[in-house]
Amino acid sequence: MSVAFSEENLKEFNRLLTRYPDREAVILPSLHLVQQQFGNVSNEGIEYVAGLLGLSAARIEGVATFYTMYNRKAVGKYHVQICRNIACSLLGAEHLIDHVSGKLGVKPGQTTADGRFTLAKVECLGACGTAPVMMVNDDYYENLTAAKIDSILDGLK
Ligand code: FES
Repeated sequence: MSVAFSEENLKEFNRLLTRYPDREAVILPSLHLVQQQFGNVSNEGIEYVAGLLGLSAARIEGVATFYTMYNRKAVGKYHVQICRNIACSLLGAEHLIDHVSGKLGVKPGQTTADGRFTLAKVECLGACGTAPVMMVNDDYYENLTAAKIDSILDGLK
C-alpha cells in the first residue's frame, strides 16, 4: 500500500509544522493523522512521515512503538481496548476481557474473521475513577459491566 496524506491531511500537516517549535514535536500529531487516514501506522506510514519531517524512519518507529495508542498492525473496524490496569482489574477487568473474548470468539490481539472487531488488553486509559473502562476507537465507555458491554457492542453491529 502506498501511503500519502489526503489533501486535507496534508493541509493539516503543514499547519502543524507552523504550530510546533520543531519537527520532533510534530511526530506524534503526524502519526495520529496517519492512523486516522489509514487505520494503522504501517512501516510505509512511518517512512512517509520520516520523509515529510526529514527525520530517520528509526526515530519515527521508536515513537510509534512506544505509544500504545498507535496501531502498528491493521485492526478491525472497531478496535475494542479494555483496560487491565490496577483500578480496572480490581473491578473485574479480566472477567470482562474473558467475556468479550468469548462473545467475539477472539483472543486479545486478534481480529474477528469478518474484520469488524479487534480485541486488545491495554494499560491504564486514564479514567481510573470510573473503572472498569474500555475504548472503542476514539470513544470511552466507563463503569462497565458485562451487560453494558454487550449492549455497546451489539449496538455497533
Ligand atoms: S486502571 Fe483502568 S483506566 Fe486506569
